[in-house]
Amino acid sequence: MSLTANILLGAPGSGKGTQAKRLVETFSLTHLSTGDILRDAVSKGTEIGLRAKAIMAEGKLVDDDTVNGLVFARLLDETSDVLFDGYPRTLQQAQALEDFLSSKGMKVGHVVLVDVPQEVLEARVVGRRLCSNNACGAIYHLETKPSKQAGVCDVCGSPLKHRSDDTSEAFQSRMGEFNSTFQPLLGFYKHRPNFRSVDGNRSPELVFESLHHVFGERA
Ligand code: AP5
Repeated sequence: MSLTANILLGAPGSGKGTQAKRLVETFSLTHLSTGDILRDAVSKGTEIGLRAKAIMAEGKLVDDDTVNGLVFARLLDETSDVLFDGYPRTLQQAQALEDFLSSKGMKVGHVVLVDVPQEVLEARVVGRRLCSNNACGAIYHLETKPSKQAGVCDVCGSPLKHRSDDTSEAFQSRMGEFNSTFQPLLGFYKHRPNFRSVDGNRSPELVFESLHHVFGERA
């Protein structure tokens, strides 16, 4: 069976994770977030996790070969179309993904940029809180999406946590990485017929409406 890999592009805090959760449910996709895969490796103390821990805490990018290796291993076992969130992040990752997909008879589907002005991103990231139960992973914000009971997940009742790289300092570094890698990545995808950009500086519901429309089209 030929699988399709769909891609959400966007800066830190642009809402990729928030939207990916709804898209995968609606369109029966597998959610592949390289940030989640790497954080899982860190929490399990695997060899990759031990190497990635300090890099991620500083807001730097993990090297392309490591990330590509993790992604391709997941794709080999995959039986559903996937939605990437946070991958590819560099031109090298995009090219390696393309080569890997074509060698396996798979293809890139929708590529969507969630476009948010830089000046609103820091407040989103610093105020973000996440469910500590990885199987739930619900995403909150202290001001714009608070949980009903402070510090407790509405969905599963687990404690909420603050990601160690959701500080102002790490955010500046993450934005620096984004700004130095994004234009070549965008250049790789933006002239393709399956590329779209949606305005991510609206309510999550309106952003989802636009994404729903895009994903409803044939890629
Ligand atoms: P990763 O986990 O991918 O982080 P990121 O790309 O920086 O993205 P975020 O998770 O911060 O934001 P998001 O866009 O998902 O926003 P969210 O929906 O949560 O990567 C972390 C690290 O891992 C990297 O720094 C790097 O070290 C490493 N890494 C990962 N992938 C890699 C790769 N491919 N190559 C190399 N290294 C890699 O929303 C954020 C907040 O905003 C939430 O509080 C939410 O409630 C709120 N919000 C969401 N939408 C809206 C809206 N429309 N309006 C108002 N608020 C909103």
